[in-house]
Amino acid sequence: EMTPEEIAFQERIDRGEKIEPKEWMPEGYRKTLIRQVGQHAHSEIVGQLPEGNWITRAPTLERKAILLAKVQDEAGHGLYLYSAAETLGVSRDELLEALHSGKMKYSSIFNYPTLTWADMGAVGWLVDGAAIMNQVPLQRTSYGPYSRAMIRICKEESFHQRQGYDIMMKMCAGTPEQKAMAQDALNRFWYPALMMFGPSDKDSVHSAQSMAWKIKMNTNDELRQKFVDQTVPQAKYLGLTVPDDNLVWNEEKGGHDFSEPDWAEFYDVIAGNGPCNAERLGARVTAWEEGAWFREGLVAHARKAEARRTS
Ligand code: ACO
Repeated sequence: EMTPEEIAFQERIDRGEKIEPKEWMPEGYRKTLIRQVGQHAHSEIVGQLPEGNWITRAPTLERKAILLAKVQDEAGHGLYLYSAAETLGVSRDELLEALHSGKMKYSSIFNYPTLTWADMGAVGWLVDGAAIMNQVPLQRTSYGPYSRAMIRICKEESFHQRQGYDIMMKMCAGTPEQKAMAQDALNRFWYPALMMFGPSDKDSVHSAQSMAWKIKMNTNDELRQKFVDQTVPQAKYLGLTVPDDNLVWNEEKGGHDFSEPDWAEFYDVIAGNGPCNAERLGARVTAWEEGAWFREGLVAHARKAEARRTS
């Protein structure tokens, strides 16, 4: 049974109105947004780690400058998203504590290692490509601060995606060894990229309610299908083979048939048992602990400035 307040709220959502921070919202709406926006923010900052790993080893000065800018952008995305989450009444410290203690998740994809330079290409092309596929519709999400954060994020993500594809084009036009590295990167990142969209619709616990509230605009399977259909021709253009023997164009549905990722692996990774979970979380916790002196300095400075103003 919906209360009159809840009915009026749902009508606003259905009319396409944006919900703003100080307005009434159901507790479930607030909680779902804190979970999704918080996890999204965590994904941005944990997502810096597999690429930050390659900044010192980028093959040219130009590639290094581009990668540095991209990794910095991800920090910025984290900041917009933490700020959007804070408007829902949760503090940044609480969110980070929940990340560090393993209570909150971040995207499964960042628990895979980046072994070669070609992985920087595959991450930009596939991981940022999947991120955009999911985030472009979220520009129309019902919560105002989240939807506005998405607009700038999407612009930057499309630059990231192109820089990744550009690396892949270069590798694929290079020596046979370089092309083999590109193929190997595609082989390792294909299924983890498909997992980014979340479990199949029949196993997605939050989709129905989140879509009714327009916190999510599409189901996980819809976006996964769009991603496959967009990416297969791009792989073909590179002369690379998508590692799926069941991949075939289905004229009738106007999309590709393809193999599902290994969902047991997915659930294992989000339970904390992926190849790099401990390393990634460890890096975040260390950064938090080693940054304590800086946070304390900022607070001390703010107190002094405040005392000077009021004395
Ligand atoms: N990685 C980690 N956890 C995931 C993933 C994933 N790829 N996909 C689903 N899950 C989790 C969900 O968080 C949920 O767990 P929880 O209840 O403990 O939070 C559980 O699996 C069940 O999944 P769903 O019911 O389908 O969850 P939801 O409706 O939240 O859909 C999705 C998942 C599609 C990721 C959604 O949260 C979303 O669109 N988030 C915003 C985009 C985002 O976070 N992107 C980060 C990717 S990369 C980047 O931006 C750099």
